[in-house]
Amino acid sequence: MSFSTGSEKRAAVQGMFAAISHRYDLLNRMLSLGMDRRWRKRAVSMFSEDVASVLDVAAGTGDLSAAWLAHRRDARVLATDFVPEMCRLGAGKLAGESRLSGYAAADALALPFADGSFDGAMAAFGVRNFADLGAGLTEMARVIRPGGEILILEFFPSRNALQDKLFRFYFHQILPRLGGWISGDREAYAYLPRSVGEFVSREAFEELCATIGLNTEQRIEFSGGIATAVLVKKTSFSTKH
Ligand SMILES: C[S@@+](CC[C@H](N)C(=O)[O-])C[C@H]1O[C@@H](n2cnc3c(N)ncnc32)[C@H](O)[C@@H]1O
Repeated sequence: MSFSTGSEKRAAVQGMFAAISHRYDLLNRMLSLGMDRRWRKRAVSMFSEDVASVLDVAAGTGDLSAAWLAHRRDARVLATDFVPEMCRLGAGKLAGESRLSGYAAADALALPFADGSFDGAMAAFGVRNFADLGAGLTEMARVIRPGGEILILEFFPSRNALQDKLFRFYFHQILPRLGGWISGDREAYAYLPRSVGEFVSREAFEELCATIGLNTEQRIEFSGGIATAVLVKKTSFSTKH
């Protein structure tokens, strides 16, 4: 799967996640050996005390939202994803949760919310899929209040040679086979390692955030750097990037 335009990537990513949505949770648990839940749990604890209402962008089946609600009693969340099937599954999982304000089908690059609507925004394993990373981060920054925070949990390309070799083997040899076998969509799980390899470095990511007026407050590397959480604060928001 390679894309020559942003709209091509958008359509391909949307189709791929729709196709694997029914097996998404099972595969997450299996392919990360259960680590993904711990990463989300620890990541949401990075938000400051004054952040309560949070927008979950590219929420998938809602695991990050669930982690946030479990973290704090006064937490509130609105979850969004551009794949309706993911929204349906997530809404089912969080059914009866009064602190969930909604589960909306929405594109992260054009969020249907007014400026400054939330204290914070977050995305786990979502921004790597955006057709335009700068535009997506700018949208997240727009919908949070000044001084609000954005939490990003992502796989950034590895900087360590040995680790890189191990990841490559797992990501390129094991994961597409296992993922393909269980989800019935091998291409989707071949896309995962490619999307990580093609993604910006963590340093370049933070630099891009800074140009939007989002300054890094905190960063945590999980499981020896397999996944990284970055918390940025909206200081001097600018739509130029
Ligand atoms: C790897 S999943 C992560 C889901 C969830 N955040 C989690 O932690 O499990 C990526 C999700 O991003 C969504 N996504 C990708 N690009 C998007 C966009 N432009 N707008 C909204 N959702 C998007 C996909 O539909 C998919 O559900």
